Amino acid sequence: MKGLILAGGSGTRLRPITHTSAKQLVPVANKPILYFVLENLVDAEIIEIAIVVGDTADEIKAAVGDGSRWGAQVTYIAQDAPRGLAHCVFIAAEFLGDDDFVMYLGDNLLQQDLREFLGGREGAAAQILLCRVPDPQRFGVAELSQDRTTVVRLVEKPVVPPSDLALTGVYLFDKTIHEAVRAIAPSARGELEITDAIQWLIDQGHTVHWRQLEGWWIDTGKLTPLLEANRLVLETLEPRIDGKVDEASRIEGRVVIERGAEVVNSTVRGPVVIGAGARVVDSYVGPFTAVGPDCEITHSEIDHSVVLEGGRITDAGDRIVDSLIGKHAEIFRSGQRPRATRLLLGDHSQVDLA
Ligand code: TTP
Repeated sequence: MKGLILAGGSGTRLRPITHTSAKQLVPVANKPILYFVLENLVDAEIIEIAIVVGDTADEIKAAVGDGSRWGAQVTYIAQDAPRGLAHCVFIAAEFLGDDDFVMYLGDNLLQQDLREFLGGREGAAAQILLCRVPDPQRFGVAELSQDRTTVVRLVEKPVVPPSDLALTGVYLFDKTIHEAVRAIAPSARGELEITDAIQWLIDQGHTVHWRQLEGWWIDTGKLTPLLEANRLVLETLEPRIDGKVDEASRIEGRVVIERGAEVVNSTVRGPVVIGAGARVVDSYVGPFTAVGPDCEITHSEIDHSVVLEGGRITDAGDRIVDSLIGKHAEIFRSGQRPRATRLLLGDHSQVDLA
């Protein structure tokens, strides 16, 4: 069994963060999403892995290397443009050969152990992982056979959903999928769609099985799910204080303070992670916040947010909530008159002055 991780794409929904970084490397609880994906595959004993990469290839290669850190053998496949998930299978044909493989979207996080998912495929050309969702109109949705054993149809963003079972970012295929991705044509948005390839399998009389996802699944390629993923993962952390906390500070609940981090005259109320070399001074860091390495939070309050590496927040005034703050971004109060908000914002940045 091989693994195919998709880490190309354009990441438009996470701009401006993805102007400068691959969205698969955006950290959740201070760990890049892609690392969770790799761990998930390796835990299921899938170690021969190819990663499809696009514009951000160099950054992804630098972060993952040859995969030996996870006990995996990682190779890279370059995709010239985001031409669709089925296109990724198409360009990976040589690496995949005739082997069965798991295709995993590199910006998706699953709570479930993959091993569960790999069983029970008996003779099916594909097995897909489905998750009950309250709003199936927003997803690719599966229609099941009467006896609910197989998938009979897949519909993208249906107006009248045939079920509430959405396609997640994990798929299991045998070699028949290669025929499918060669047979289909690009969709209206110009991409080779994996849903069309799976539908082709069904229409050709192949069996497509499904499993229902246990636990949560998050497509982190957007802000709200990213903060939600952060929340869910932070809740599972083992509290640990390897950094320095002075006597005037209070640490409450599930808190990880990495080595070299320092908390001075502050309250940190978990679940929270504070990265290596970060400094929190005269501040409040509240639940569900991940403060990246080398950040500085001074005389400010923040909760339910992600601050990426090197971010600096000084005298913020109002509490910062529900925010994603990019690498080395700064929020500060200069005291300059007239009192006003002065901004230097990158392309596609967002400021909510509520
Ligand atoms: P998507 O989130 O569907 O697409 P995207 O990355 O282009 O994002 P956005 O809509 O925000 O612009 O992609 C799912 C995953 O698959 C993601 O990790 C990127 C990857 N991918 C590829 O590697 N190649 C592709 O051609 C596409 C479409 C996605």
